Amino acid sequence: MSGQHFSIAIDGPSGAGKSTLSEQLARELGFLHVDTGAIYRTVGLAASRRGISKEDPQAIAGLLPELEISLQFGEDGTQRMLLNGEDVTQAIRMHEISAWASVVSAIPAVREFLLDMQRRLAREHNVIMDGRDIGTVVLPQADLKIYLTADPEDRARRRYLELVARGQQAEQAQILQDVLERDRRDMERTVAPLRRAEDAVLADTTGKSQEESFQLLLSLIRSHLERKQGGPLS
Ligand code: DC
Repeated sequence: MSGQHFSIAIDGPSGAGKSTLSEQLARELGFLHVDTGAIYRTVGLAASRRGISKEDPQAIAGLLPELEISLQFGEDGTQRMLLNGEDVTQAIRMHEISAWASVVSAIPAVREFLLDMQRRLAREHNVIMDGRDIGTVVLPQADLKIYLTADPEDRARRRYLELVARGQQAEQAQILQDVLERDRRDMERTVAPLRRAEDAVLADTTGKSQEESFQLLLSLIRSHLERKQGGPLS
């Protein structure tokens, strides 16, 4: 165990179902779910509101001292994001903020700025933390690392259905392009690129329903935690 608490790192490309599955798993196991993508999205939202160019990393980094970012967890474990006191939980889910989050997340100063916040949460709680670099950078000592992935077409289709369900306009071909572009940016960036940690278990959810994916991950986590604890989990 890393300290007093269990930590489970779930990394993988966008649209693989990390957040939804992590939230469901955390509820089942009584862990705190930390969605680190939401933290990068919050920085992205702040930058987009200032009208900064996406090509101007220095201006984006210069914004950091003015940002007070915090996470709140509801009774049911739902994570809310606060930006300088404003609840931006909904606003960060807008489609254009995905691209912004990807841009700001490639800036070393932004990653450094958010590192402590993430590590502190894992020190203080049993966490399922999902992101891109949790197993490789944020929590290299995590008790269990999972690399969750699915084919790009599958991930684009899920994202499309998600946006439509939220009443947002979406075009499937465009979303596939966005998914591929984000994969490329997340994997090719020099700082904390998305990659599978050597000791991460690979879970591929292509063609699987959410329930099937959930059961797959739950049994993986349960058997791992039981082995660590030396007995079945209650
Ligand atoms: O998971 P998401 O789509 O909400 O993440 C938004 C962006 O943030 C994504 O392009 C990758 C980036 N990100 C990151 O670089 N590191 C993390 N730990 C989490 C997200």
